[in-house]
Amino acid sequence: MKEVIREYISKEKLEEKVRELAAMIEKDFEGEELHFVCVLKGSIMFMADLSRAVKNNVYLHFMDVSSYGNSTESSGNIKILMDIDEPIKDKNVIIVEDIIDSGRTLAVLKDMLLARGPKSLKICTILNKPDRRVSHVDVDYEGFKIPDEFVVGYGLDYAQKYRNLDYIGILSFEEEN
Ligand code: IMP
Ligand code: MG
Repeated sequence: MKEVIREYISKEKLEEKVRELAAMIEKDFEGEELHFVCVLKGSIMFMADLSRAVKNNVYLHFMDVSSYGNSTESSGNIKILMDIDEPIKDKNVIIVEDIIDSGRTLAVLKDMLLARGPKSLKICTILNKPDRRVSHVDVDYEGFKIPDEFVVGYGLDYAQKYRNLDYIGILSFEEEN
């Protein structure tokens, strides 16, 4: 089978949306310091762009999580592979996500970070697949709502490939002939 990628959200559309989200965040946190938490690896492109689009002082944090379960569906069993290395108590924290699918990862992550006593905790995602939601999550800043399709690019992968595409595409499999 051949992997085929059809462009779904262009580079220009992504840039425009990042500017819109940045403007909303700036308005909500005028003059305040922000702590972005990047959930590796899918969110790195979005966090890099978003953090440069806001004028606030932004601190960057990285977290790596894995969930047990099969490869296409995350489970509620979240294992922290790498935690952020600084306290977030009394800080304005924004979890920056590539995509919210079942919501299981984020539900666990949010509770975990809330327990550390941040001043505020918001969720910002570039993509949202609401049809697939299993765990409820309140999304504060959302880029695009998308249907239940498997997407790649702008950080998102299929078997670790395609993360460096500068657009978001829908992946499908076609018969080779
Ligand atoms: P969930 O919300 O706990 O189900 O997990 C969300 C994570 O699953 C995302 O951060 C991605 O890493 C991955 N994921 C979900 N949907 C897609 C997709 O369409 N393409 C690539 N990765 C996806
Ligand atoms: Mg992710």
